[in-house]
Amino acid sequence: MVTLLENPLRVGLQQQRVPEPQILVIFGASGDLTQRKLVPALYKLRRERRLPPEFTIVGVARREWSHDYFREQMREGIEQFSDGVGSEDLWQEFSQGIFYCPGDIDNPESYQKLKNFLAELDEKRGTRGNRVFYLSVSPKFFAEAIQQLGKAEMLKDPLKTRLMIEKPFGRDLGTARSLNRVVQQVCKEEQVYRIDHYLGKETVQNLLVFRFGNAIFEPLWNRQFVDHVQITVAETVGVEDRAGYYESSGALRDMLQNHLMQLFAFTAMEAPNSLDADSIRTEKMKAIQATRLADIQNLERAAVRGQYSAGWMKGKRVPGYREEPGVNPQSTTPTFVAMKFLIDNWRWKGVPFYLRTGKRLPKKVSEISIHFREVPNLLFQSAAQQMNANILALRIQPNEGISLRFEVKMPGGTLRTRSVDMDFTYGSFGLQATSDAYDRLLLDCMMGDQTLFTRADEVEAAWQLVTPALSVWDSPTDPATIPQYEAGTWEPTEAELLIDRDGRRWRRL
Ligand code: BG6
Repeated sequence: MVTLLENPLRVGLQQQRVPEPQILVIFGASGDLTQRKLVPALYKLRRERRLPPEFTIVGVARREWSHDYFREQMREGIEQFSDGVGSEDLWQEFSQGIFYCPGDIDNPESYQKLKNFLAELDEKRGTRGNRVFYLSVSPKFFAEAIQQLGKAEMLKDPLKTRLMIEKPFGRDLGTARSLNRVVQQVCKEEQVYRIDHYLGKETVQNLLVFRFGNAIFEPLWNRQFVDHVQITVAETVGVEDRAGYYESSGALRDMLQNHLMQLFAFTAMEAPNSLDADSIRTEKMKAIQATRLADIQNLERAAVRGQYSAGWMKGKRVPGYREEPGVNPQSTTPTFVAMKFLIDNWRWKGVPFYLRTGKRLPKKVSEISIHFREVPNLLFQSAAQQMNANILALRIQPNEGISLRFEVKMPGGTLRTRSVDMDFTYGSFGLQATSDAYDRLLLDCMMGDQTLFTRADEVEAAWQLVTPALSVWDSPTDPATIPQYEAGTWEPTEAELLIDRDGRRWRRL
């Protein structure tokens, strides 16, 4: 067993161990995330014996629920959103460690009551004062909850207490900085786990192994051989029932500043000195810091937003964003964003990175593609029309895997060439690569491994990078000027132009 006193780093990408007995306190426990993701992930961990029997969950929310009612809700979540509870004995044992403590996020008395309750549980369940506080409340309450935890001295012991914070961390550079200041007043950075669930995805973690565990790719991973890089995170879903949140967020804040930025950082970073959380996070941050939007004077040449209009998805008519329930019919919130970045360092100078993400696109797919330079073509001039540059595609989801596109000669007497793909799929392991990222992230936090969490300076650097676009897009805009794309199509024309102008094309996925 690892104790919280040990240096627990390196555990993450290496062996499996079991954390110390502890209590996970979930603020916002009556919300969707707890029932759909967190508790099913914790149950899975317990079933796999990766959590000790003393492990305890305390849900905190405003509603006056009983322990039993909360347990029932969690059981329903496990039945509905994962493989079910399986063995009744296991569920009985697990559910005896689930408790509920009603409380108000801004009421100091609630924190005192919680503190006493946790102390009682330590006695009863042997959790030894070890705690993780998970903030799954609306982001507008993050600062309040952290300050209250500070006042109640619940984050005082850096060796025994940790804080997990859901995204979004701030809504721009200024708010992220002030939230970081609140955090820093109350606890140490080693206690803070800022979540980006993309970092929990197997294929994202594999980027490190792929790049730095193979001798043949890294020498090509630079301006000498790479023409450009594309990063796409496409979704088929629309805004669903999240208009309240999404209207004030949009694709740039919801996806690009965090999830795509993480994919970007892993692709662009230098090799870290070691697998220590801080070595990796420092390299990621340095890559983000060296990056800028390609053109700040003419923003439309570097950043394009868009909004889906009504269209067809899988033969079904779907409404446009502005017709979705809860969305302002004059909304200017982007559901699509494409950006062109340049990195001012030795490795990448002059190599554009094109990032795009959107809702209601034709396919759910996330991919990083490295587009290599073209060959000089002198030898194969007659076959030139069909010659394509090599592409290395890292598929994050679904069909997780890696494929390398190269040219071959078609059989026959004439010299004709075509592109073929050499494919590796995670499916060939007979395992599903993408278990829900939350189990991995929860476990890592309980083990004290910060590798897959974003550091204060990294989050700020990512906000800084998108600030030129935010400052224009956040100012009042005529809704008629927001580029539209039909639901079920790939992007607005403006986004095609963004890359077309450079003589390149978005990869069709
Ligand atoms: C969330 C966003 O962080 O990520 C959602 O808030 C988005 O809008 C989701 O749908 C996508 O996650 P995944 O894992 O399905 O790619």
